[in-house]
Amino acid sequence: MLSPCLAVNEKGHLAISGCDAVDLAGQYGTPLYVMSEDEIRRVCKSYVQSFQRFYGGHGRPIYASKAFCCKEICRIVTSEGMDVEVVSGGELYTALQAGVQAGRIHFQGNNKSAQEIAFALENGVGDIVVDSLWELRLIERIAGERQMAAPVSLRIKPGIDAHTHDFIRTGQIDSKFGIDLVSGEAMEAVRLGLDLEHVQLKGLHCHIGSQILEVEPFVHAAEVMLELFSEIKNQLGVELGHLNLGGGFGVHYTQRDDAAPYEDYMAAVSARVHAKCEELGLTLPEIFLEPGRSVVAEAGVTLYTVGSIKEIPGVRNYVSIDGGMFENPRYALYQAEYTCLLANKADKPADYTATVAGKCCESGDLIQEHTPIQRPQEGDILAVLTTGAYNYSMASNYNRNLKPPCVMVAGGESRVVIKGETYEDLVRNDV
Ligand SMILES: Cc1ncc(COP(=O)(O)O)c(C=O)c1O
Repeated sequence: MLSPCLAVNEKGHLAISGCDAVDLAGQYGTPLYVMSEDEIRRVCKSYVQSFQRFYGGHGRPIYASKAFCCKEICRIVTSEGMDVEVVSGGELYTALQAGVQAGRIHFQGNNKSAQEIAFALENGVGDIVVDSLWELRLIERIAGERQMAAPVSLRIKPGIDAHTHDFIRTGQIDSKFGIDLVSGEAMEAVRLGLDLEHVQLKGLHCHIGSQILEVEPFVHAAEVMLELFSEIKNQLGVELGHLNLGGGFGVHYTQRDDAAPYEDYMAAVSARVHAKCEELGLTLPEIFLEPGRSVVAEAGVTLYTVGSIKEIPGVRNYVSIDGGMFENPRYALYQAEYTCLLANKADKPADYTATVAGKCCESGDLIQEHTPIQRPQEGDILAVLTTGAYNYSMASNYNRNLKPPCVMVAGGESRVVIKGETYEDLVRNDV
Protein backbone atom coordinates (compact mmCIF):
# COMPACT_ATOMS: atom_id res chain seq x y z
CA MET A 1 0.00 0.00 0.00
CA LEU A 2 1.15 3.56 -0.71
CA SER A 3 0.72 4.90 2.81
CA PRO A 4 1.22 3.37 6.28
CA CYS A 5 -2.41 4.27 7.14
CA LEU A 6 -3.80 1.91 4.45
CA ALA A 7 -4.42 -1.83 4.65
CA VAL A 8 -6.69 -4.54 3.29
CA ASN A 9 -8.84 -5.90 6.13
CA GLU A 10 -10.24 -9.38 6.82
CA LYS A 11 -13.25 -8.67 4.57
CA GLY A 12 -10.93 -7.90 1.70
CA HIS A 13 -11.89 -4.20 1.92
CA LEU A 14 -9.66 -1.15 1.93
CA ALA A 15 -9.15 0.12 5.49
CA ILE A 16 -7.90 3.59 6.41
CA SER A 17 -6.48 3.95 9.93
CA GLY A 18 -8.51 0.89 10.93
CA CYS A 19 -11.81 2.12 9.41
CA ASP A 20 -13.41 0.02 6.67
CA ALA A 21 -13.74 2.27 3.60
CA VAL A 22 -16.95 0.53 2.50
CA ASP A 23 -18.52 1.19 5.93
CA LEU A 24 -17.41 4.84 5.78
CA ALA A 25 -19.04 5.21 2.36
CA GLY A 26 -22.22 3.63 3.75
CA GLN A 27 -22.26 5.81 6.86
CA TYR A 28 -21.39 9.20 5.33
CA GLY A 29 -22.29 8.74 1.64
CA THR A 30 -20.14 9.43 -1.40
CA PRO A 31 -18.23 11.29 -2.65
CA LEU A 32 -16.34 11.46 0.62
CA TYR A 33 -12.96 12.86 1.59
CA VAL A 34 -11.33 10.65 4.22
CA MET A 35 -8.28 11.93 6.11
CA SER A 36 -6.16 9.89 8.50
CA GLU A 37 -5.25 11.83 11.63
CA ASP A 38 -2.73 9.09 12.53
CA GLU A 39 -0.89 9.65 9.28
CA ILE A 40 -0.91 13.47 9.50
CA ARG A 41 0.51 13.26 13.03
CA ARG A 42 3.13 10.70 11.98
CA VAL A 43 4.42 13.00 9.24
CA CYS A 44 4.36 16.12 11.46
CA LYS A 45 6.39 14.23 14.07
CA SER A 46 8.97 13.13 11.54
CA TYR A 47 9.51 16.74 10.40
CA VAL A 48 9.55 18.17 13.94
CA GLN A 49 11.90 15.47 15.22
CA SER A 50 14.28 15.98 12.30
CA PHE A 51 14.79 19.59 13.43
CA GLN A 52 15.61 18.38 16.94
CA ARG A 53 17.84 15.61 15.76
CA PHE A 54 19.85 17.33 13.05
CA TYR A 55 19.66 21.06 13.83
CA GLY A 56 19.39 21.32 17.62
CA GLY A 57 15.78 22.47 17.34
CA HIS A 58 16.98 25.84 15.93
CA GLY A 59 13.95 26.27 13.69
CA ARG A 60 10.84 24.30 12.83
CA PRO A 61 8.61 23.08 10.05
CA ILE A 62 5.70 25.22 8.88
CA TYR A 63 2.58 23.58 7.46
CA ALA A 64 1.72 25.17 4.10
CA SER A 65 -2.03 25.17 4.64
CA LYS A 66 -2.88 25.69 0.96
CA ALA A 67 -2.52 21.90 0.68
CA PHE A 68 -5.63 21.43 2.83
CA CYS A 69 -6.89 24.34 4.88
CA CYS A 70 -9.55 23.69 7.48
CA LYS A 71 -9.74 24.31 11.21
CA GLU A 72 -9.17 20.74 12.34
CA ILE A 73 -6.03 20.25 10.27
CA CYS A 74 -4.64 23.58 11.55
CA ARG A 75 -5.28 22.33 15.10
CA ILE A 76 -3.64 18.96 14.48
CA VAL A 77 -0.44 20.31 12.89
CA THR A 78 0.06 23.04 15.48
CA SER A 79 -0.51 20.57 18.34
CA GLU A 80 2.45 18.67 16.83
CA GLY A 81 4.67 21.76 17.02
CA MET A 82 4.42 23.11 13.47
CA ASP A 83 3.77 26.73 12.45
CA VAL A 84 1.20 27.52 9.74
CA GLU A 85 1.72 29.24 6.40
CA VAL A 86 -1.23 31.02 4.75
CA VAL A 87 -1.56 32.68 1.36
CA SER A 88 -4.82 34.58 1.60
CA GLY A 89 -7.07 36.41 4.01
CA GLY A 90 -9.32 33.34 3.95
CA GLU A 91 -6.57 30.92 5.00
CA LEU A 92 -5.42 33.41 7.64
CA TYR A 93 -8.95 33.71 8.98
CA THR A 94 -9.28 29.90 9.11
CA ALA A 95 -6.01 29.52 11.03
CA LEU A 96 -7.00 32.24 13.51
CA GLN A 97 -10.43 30.66 13.96
CA ALA A 98 -8.70 27.34 14.66
CA GLY A 99 -6.87 29.03 17.52
CA VAL A 100 -3.42 29.12 15.87
CA GLN A 101 -1.25 31.71 17.66
CA ALA A 102 -0.85 34.66 15.27
CA GLY A 103 2.88 34.85 15.96
CA ARG A 104 3.22 31.33 14.52
CA ILE A 105 1.57 32.27 11.21
CA HIS A 106 3.62 33.08 8.09
CA PHE A 107 1.77 35.03 5.41
CA GLN A 108 2.83 34.36 1.79
CA GLY A 109 1.42 35.39 -1.57
CA ASN A 110 2.57 37.20 -4.70
CA ASN A 111 -0.19 39.82 -4.74
CA LYS A 112 -1.54 40.35 -1.25
CA SER A 113 -4.16 43.06 -1.10
CA ALA A 114 -3.86 46.10 1.16
CA GLN A 115 -6.85 44.77 3.06
CA GLU A 116 -5.18 41.37 3.60
CA ILE A 117 -1.95 43.03 4.78
CA ALA A 118 -3.88 45.21 7.23
CA PHE A 119 -5.78 42.13 8.47
CA ALA A 120 -2.46 40.30 9.05
CA LEU A 121 -0.86 43.26 10.85
CA GLU A 122 -3.86 43.95 13.05
CA ASN A 123 -3.91 40.30 14.13
CA GLY A 124 -0.18 40.20 14.92
CA VAL A 125 0.95 37.71 12.26
CA GLY A 126 4.54 36.64 12.97
CA ASP A 127 6.05 36.90 9.50
CA ILE A 128 4.86 38.46 6.25
CA VAL A 129 6.83 36.93 3.41
CA VAL A 130 7.23 39.76 0.92
CA ASP A 131 7.15 38.90 -2.76
CA SER A 132 8.23 42.19 -4.42
CA LEU A 133 9.64 45.67 -3.80
CA TRP A 134 6.16 47.01 -4.51
CA GLU A 135 4.76 44.94 -1.64
CA LEU A 136 7.55 46.09 0.69
CA ARG A 137 6.53 49.73 0.11
CA LEU A 138 2.86 48.85 0.50
CA ILE A 139 3.54 47.18 3.86
CA GLU A 140 5.60 50.21 4.97
CA ARG A 141 2.62 52.47 4.26
CA ILE A 142 0.04 50.22 5.96
CA ALA A 143 2.24 49.56 9.01
CA GLY A 144 3.12 53.27 9.19
CA GLU A 145 -0.57 54.25 9.27
CA ARG A 146 -0.90 51.99 12.31
CA GLN A 147 2.40 53.06 13.92
CA MET A 148 3.63 49.45 13.83
CA ALA A 149 6.78 47.65 12.71
CA ALA A 150 5.80 44.81 10.37
CA PRO A 151 7.86 41.62 10.79
CA VAL A 152 8.84 40.56 7.26
CA SER A 153 11.07 38.25 5.30
CA LEU A 154 11.80 38.40 1.58
CA ARG A 155 10.94 35.68 -0.91
CA ILE A 156 13.92 35.28 -3.23
CA LYS A 157 14.00 33.47 -6.58
CA PRO A 158 17.23 31.54 -6.25
CA GLY A 159 17.31 30.52 -9.93
CA ILE A 160 17.11 26.78 -9.23
CA ASP A 161 15.39 24.40 -11.62
CA ALA A 162 13.98 21.59 -9.52
CA HIS A 163 12.90 19.16 -12.29
CA THR A 164 9.18 19.06 -11.68
CA HIS A 165 6.04 19.90 -13.65
CA ASP A 166 6.16 23.38 -15.27
CA PHE A 167 3.05 24.61 -13.44
CA ILE A 168 4.47 23.77 -10.02
CA ARG A 169 8.06 24.95 -10.55
CA THR A 170 8.69 28.30 -8.93
CA GLY A 171 12.33 28.90 -8.05
CA GLN A 172 13.59 29.64 -11.57
CA ILE A 173 13.88 33.13 -13.01
CA ASP A 174 10.75 33.05 -15.20
CA SER A 175 8.29 32.86 -12.32
CA LYS A 176 5.59 35.15 -11.02
CA PHE A 177 6.83 34.48 -7.49
CA GLY A 178 9.62 36.19 -5.63
CA ILE A 179 12.41 38.72 -5.96
CA ASP A 180 15.17 38.04 -8.46
CA LEU A 181 18.58 37.14 -7.10
CA VAL A 182 20.63 37.21 -10.29
CA SER A 183 19.77 40.74 -11.45
CA GLY A 184 20.63 42.31 -8.08
CA GLU A 185 16.98 42.98 -7.24
CA ALA A 186 17.36 40.88 -4.08
CA MET A 187 20.11 43.12 -2.65
CA GLU A 188 18.04 46.18 -3.52
CA ALA A 189 15.08 44.70 -1.60
CA VAL A 190 17.28 43.88 1.40
CA ARG A 191 18.62 47.46 1.45
CA LEU A 192 15.10 48.84 1.24
CA GLY A 193 13.84 46.43 3.92
CA LEU A 194 16.60 47.56 6.29
CA ASP A 195 15.99 51.26 5.56
CA LEU A 196 12.22 51.37 5.95
CA GLU A 197 10.98 52.63 9.29
CA HIS A 198 7.92 50.41 9.72
CA VAL A 199 9.38 47.16 8.46
CA GLN A 200 11.50 44.79 10.48
CA LEU A 201 13.47 42.53 8.13
CA LYS A 202 13.96 39.16 9.82
CA GLY A 203 15.07 36.72 7.17
CA LEU A 204 14.94 35.31 3.67
CA HIS A 205 12.74 32.73 2.02
CA CYS A 206 12.80 30.66 -1.14
CA HIS A 207 10.58 27.93 -2.58
CA ILE A 208 11.91 25.95 -5.51
CA GLY A 209 8.93 23.86 -6.61
CA SER A 210 6.66 21.03 -5.65
CA GLN A 211 6.58 17.21 -5.73
CA ILE A 212 10.40 17.16 -5.73
CA LEU A 213 11.57 13.64 -5.02
CA GLU A 214 15.24 14.30 -4.24
CA VAL A 215 17.06 16.02 -1.40
CA GLU A 216 19.78 17.65 -3.51
CA PRO A 217 17.81 20.68 -4.87
CA PHE A 218 17.08 21.80 -1.29
CA VAL A 219 20.74 21.49 -0.30
CA HIS A 220 21.64 23.54 -3.36
CA ALA A 221 19.00 26.17 -2.50
CA ALA A 222 20.41 26.45 1.04
CA GLU A 223 23.89 27.06 -0.38
CA VAL A 224 22.70 29.74 -2.79
CA MET A 225 20.73 31.50 -0.08
CA LEU A 226 23.65 31.43 2.38
CA GLU A 227 25.86 33.04 -0.27
CA LEU A 228 23.31 35.86 -0.25
CA PHE A 229 23.39 36.00 3.58
CA SER A 230 27.15 36.38 3.29
CA GLU A 231 26.89 39.15 0.66
CA ILE A 232 24.46 41.00 2.93
CA LYS A 233 26.82 40.67 5.87
CA ASN A 234 29.82 41.84 3.85
CA GLN A 235 28.10 44.75 2.09
CA LEU A 236 25.65 45.92 4.74
CA GLY A 237 27.13 44.61 7.99
CA VAL A 238 23.89 42.83 8.90
CA GLU A 239 23.30 39.15 9.66
CA LEU A 240 19.73 38.08 9.02
CA GLY A 241 18.19 35.71 11.55
CA HIS A 242 16.25 33.14 9.58
CA LEU A 243 16.23 31.17 6.38
CA ASN A 244 13.02 29.55 5.15
CA LEU A 245 13.71 26.96 2.44
CA GLY A 246 10.07 26.51 1.42
CA GLY A 247 8.23 23.27 0.75
CA GLY A 248 7.91 20.92 -2.18
CA PHE A 249 8.79 17.50 -0.76
CA GLY A 250 7.46 14.71 -2.93
CA VAL A 251 4.94 12.00 -2.02
CA HIS A 252 3.81 8.63 -3.35
CA TYR A 253 0.97 9.03 -5.83
CA THR A 254 1.90 5.72 -7.42
CA GLN A 255 4.44 3.00 -6.70
CA ARG A 256 6.71 4.69 -9.25
CA ASP A 257 7.24 7.76 -7.05
CA ASP A 258 10.49 7.23 -5.21
CA ALA A 259 10.02 9.91 -2.54
CA ALA A 260 12.81 10.49 -0.02
CA PRO A 261 11.92 9.94 3.68
CA TYR A 262 11.00 13.33 5.20
CA GLU A 263 13.77 13.21 7.85
CA ASP A 264 16.35 13.10 5.08
CA TYR A 265 15.72 16.72 4.10
CA MET A 266 16.80 18.24 7.41
CA ALA A 267 19.62 15.73 7.72
CA ALA A 268 21.12 16.84 4.41
CA VAL A 269 20.22 20.54 4.70
CA SER A 270 21.60 20.76 8.22
CA ALA A 271 24.94 19.22 7.28
CA ARG A 272 25.34 21.65 4.37
CA VAL A 273 24.18 24.69 6.36
CA HIS A 274 26.69 23.94 9.12
CA ALA A 275 29.52 23.54 6.61
CA LYS A 276 28.58 26.59 4.57
CA CYS A 277 28.15 28.87 7.59
CA GLU A 278 31.55 27.85 8.83
CA GLU A 279 33.10 28.48 5.42
CA LEU A 280 31.46 31.93 5.14
CA GLY A 281 31.82 32.96 8.78
CA LEU A 282 28.07 33.20 9.35
CA THR A 283 26.08 32.58 12.52
CA LEU A 284 23.79 29.57 12.05
CA PRO A 285 20.39 30.97 11.03
CA GLU A 286 17.10 29.65 12.31
CA ILE A 287 15.83 27.31 9.57
CA PHE A 288 12.25 26.77 8.46
CA LEU A 289 10.88 24.23 6.01
CA GLU A 290 7.38 24.70 4.63
CA PRO A 291 5.87 21.34 3.64
CA GLY A 292 2.25 21.23 2.53
CA ARG A 293 1.60 18.28 0.23
CA SER A 294 3.74 15.82 2.17
CA VAL A 295 1.95 16.54 5.47
CA VAL A 296 -1.50 15.60 4.19
CA ALA A 297 -1.36 13.94 0.74
CA GLU A 298 -0.87 10.32 1.76
CA ALA A 299 -3.32 10.72 4.66
CA GLY A 300 -6.15 11.27 2.18
CA VAL A 301 -8.41 8.88 0.26
CA THR A 302 -11.47 9.94 -1.72
CA LEU A 303 -14.35 7.46 -1.94
CA TYR A 304 -16.90 7.36 -4.75
CA THR A 305 -19.74 5.15 -5.93
CA VAL A 306 -19.45 3.68 -9.42
CA GLY A 307 -22.40 4.48 -11.70
CA SER A 308 -22.40 4.23 -15.47
CA ILE A 309 -19.81 1.97 -17.16
CA LYS A 310 -19.25 2.47 -20.91
CA GLU A 311 -16.97 -0.01 -22.62
CA ILE A 312 -16.00 1.29 -26.07
CA PRO A 313 -14.31 -1.65 -27.85
CA GLY A 314 -10.77 -0.88 -28.96
CA VAL A 315 -10.93 2.58 -27.38
CA ARG A 316 -11.38 2.62 -23.60
CA ASN A 317 -13.63 1.77 -20.67
CA TYR A 318 -15.27 4.77 -19.02
CA VAL A 319 -16.07 4.06 -15.37
CA SER A 320 -18.11 7.00 -14.11
CA ILE A 321 -18.18 8.08 -10.49
CA ASP A 322 -20.33 10.48 -8.48
CA GLY A 323 -17.47 12.99 -8.11
CA GLY A 324 -15.13 14.62 -10.60
CA MET A 325 -13.18 17.77 -11.33
CA PHE A 326 -15.33 19.80 -8.93
CA GLU A 327 -13.85 17.96 -5.94
CA ASN A 328 -10.53 16.93 -7.51
CA PRO A 329 -9.43 19.07 -10.48
CA ARG A 330 -5.81 17.89 -10.51
CA TYR A 331 -6.00 15.48 -13.43
CA ALA A 332 -7.90 18.01 -15.52
CA LEU A 333 -5.38 20.71 -14.57
CA TYR A 334 -2.09 18.90 -15.06
CA GLN A 335 -2.68 15.17 -15.66
CA ALA A 336 -1.80 14.34 -12.07
CA GLU A 337 -1.17 10.64 -11.50
CA TYR A 338 -3.14 8.64 -8.95
CA THR A 339 -3.62 5.07 -7.80
CA CYS A 340 -7.25 3.87 -7.95
CA LEU A 341 -8.84 0.71 -6.61
CA LEU A 342 -12.23 -0.71 -5.74
CA ALA A 343 -12.46 -0.53 -1.95
CA ASN A 344 -14.96 -3.41 -1.73
CA LYS A 345 -12.73 -5.66 -3.88
CA ALA A 346 -9.32 -4.54 -2.62
CA ASP A 347 -8.10 -8.13 -2.29
CA LYS A 348 -8.95 -8.98 -5.93
CA PRO A 349 -6.52 -8.56 -8.84
CA ALA A 350 -6.55 -5.22 -10.65
CA ASP A 351 -6.98 -6.76 -14.10
CA TYR A 352 -9.34 -4.22 -15.70
CA THR A 353 -8.22 -1.00 -17.40
CA ALA A 354 -10.44 1.97 -16.60
CA THR A 355 -10.71 5.62 -17.44
CA VAL A 356 -12.26 7.04 -14.29
CA ALA A 357 -14.66 9.79 -15.38
CA GLY A 358 -16.38 12.47 -13.32
CA LYS A 359 -19.94 13.75 -13.66
CA CYS A 360 -19.19 17.29 -14.87
CA CYS A 361 -20.09 18.58 -18.33
CA GLU A 362 -16.49 18.60 -19.61
CA SER A 363 -14.83 15.84 -21.65
CA GLY A 364 -11.67 16.60 -19.69
CA ASP A 365 -13.41 15.80 -16.41
CA LEU A 366 -11.35 12.71 -15.71
CA ILE A 367 -9.69 11.49 -12.54
CA GLN A 368 -7.34 9.03 -14.26
CA GLU A 369 -6.97 7.42 -17.69
CA HIS A 370 -6.10 3.82 -18.55
CA THR A 371 -5.55 2.85 -14.95
CA PRO A 372 -5.69 -0.69 -13.54
CA ILE A 373 -8.55 -1.45 -11.15
CA GLN A 374 -10.55 -4.53 -10.17
CA ARG A 375 -13.41 -5.48 -12.53
CA PRO A 376 -16.11 -2.87 -11.77
CA GLN A 377 -19.89 -3.05 -11.38
CA GLU A 378 -22.41 -0.34 -10.65
CA GLY A 379 -22.46 0.33 -6.89
CA ASP A 380 -18.81 -0.53 -6.24
CA ILE A 381 -16.87 1.89 -4.03
CA LEU A 382 -13.97 3.36 -5.95
CA ALA A 383 -11.10 4.75 -3.87
CA VAL A 384 -8.54 7.23 -5.15
CA LEU A 385 -5.43 7.25 -2.96
CA THR A 386 -3.13 10.13 -1.96
CA THR A 387 -5.82 12.78 -2.31
CA GLY A 388 -5.17 14.66 0.94
CA ALA A 389 -3.35 17.58 -0.70
CA TYR A 390 -4.69 20.09 -3.22
CA ASN A 391 -8.00 18.24 -3.64
CA TYR A 392 -10.43 19.72 -1.09
CA SER A 393 -8.46 22.98 -1.24
CA MET A 394 -8.91 23.20 -5.02
CA ALA A 395 -12.55 22.10 -5.06
CA SER A 396 -15.25 24.23 -6.68
CA ASN A 397 -19.00 24.11 -7.22
CA TYR A 398 -18.71 23.64 -10.99
CA ASN A 399 -22.08 22.54 -12.40
CA ARG A 400 -23.41 23.45 -8.95
CA ASN A 401 -22.13 20.22 -7.51
CA LEU A 402 -21.82 20.08 -3.74
CA LYS A 403 -18.42 19.96 -2.06
CA PRO A 404 -18.32 16.63 -0.22
CA PRO A 405 -17.86 16.26 3.53
CA CYS A 406 -14.54 15.30 5.06
CA VAL A 407 -14.21 12.72 7.80
CA MET A 408 -11.12 12.32 9.96
CA VAL A 409 -10.21 8.76 10.92
CA ALA A 410 -7.91 7.64 13.74
CA GLY A 411 -7.48 4.30 15.50
CA GLY A 412 -10.61 2.79 13.94
CA GLU A 413 -12.86 5.78 14.80
CA SER A 414 -14.26 8.42 12.45
CA ARG A 415 -15.68 11.93 12.85
CA VAL A 416 -16.87 14.65 10.49
CA VAL A 417 -14.46 17.62 10.36
CA ILE A 418 -16.02 19.41 7.38
CA LYS A 419 -19.73 19.08 6.75
CA GLY A 420 -20.92 18.35 3.24
CA GLU A 421 -22.54 21.26 1.44
CA THR A 422 -26.27 21.46 0.88
CA TYR A 423 -28.29 22.97 -1.97
CA GLU A 424 -29.14 25.88 0.37
CA ASP A 425 -25.40 26.56 0.70
CA LEU A 426 -25.24 26.91 -3.07
CA VAL A 427 -27.79 29.72 -3.25
CA ARG A 428 -26.86 31.42 0.03
CA ASN A 429 -25.14 34.37 -1.65
CA ASP A 430 -27.40 34.57 -4.70
CA VAL A 431 -29.67 37.61 -4.72
C1 LIG B 1 5.79 29.43 -0.76
C2 LIG B 1 5.33 28.03 -0.67
N1 LIG B 1 5.65 27.31 0.40
C3 LIG B 1 5.26 26.03 0.54
C4 LIG B 1 4.51 25.41 -0.45
C5 LIG B 1 4.09 23.99 -0.24
O1 LIG B 1 4.59 23.17 -1.23
P1 LIG B 1 4.29 21.60 -1.12
O2 LIG B 1 2.84 21.46 -0.91
O3 LIG B 1 4.72 21.07 -2.43
O4 LIG B 1 5.10 21.08 0.02
C6 LIG B 1 4.17 26.12 -1.60
C7 LIG B 1 3.40 25.48 -2.67
O5 LIG B 1 3.05 25.99 -3.66
C8 LIG B 1 4.59 27.47 -1.71
O6 LIG B 1 4.28 28.20 -2.78
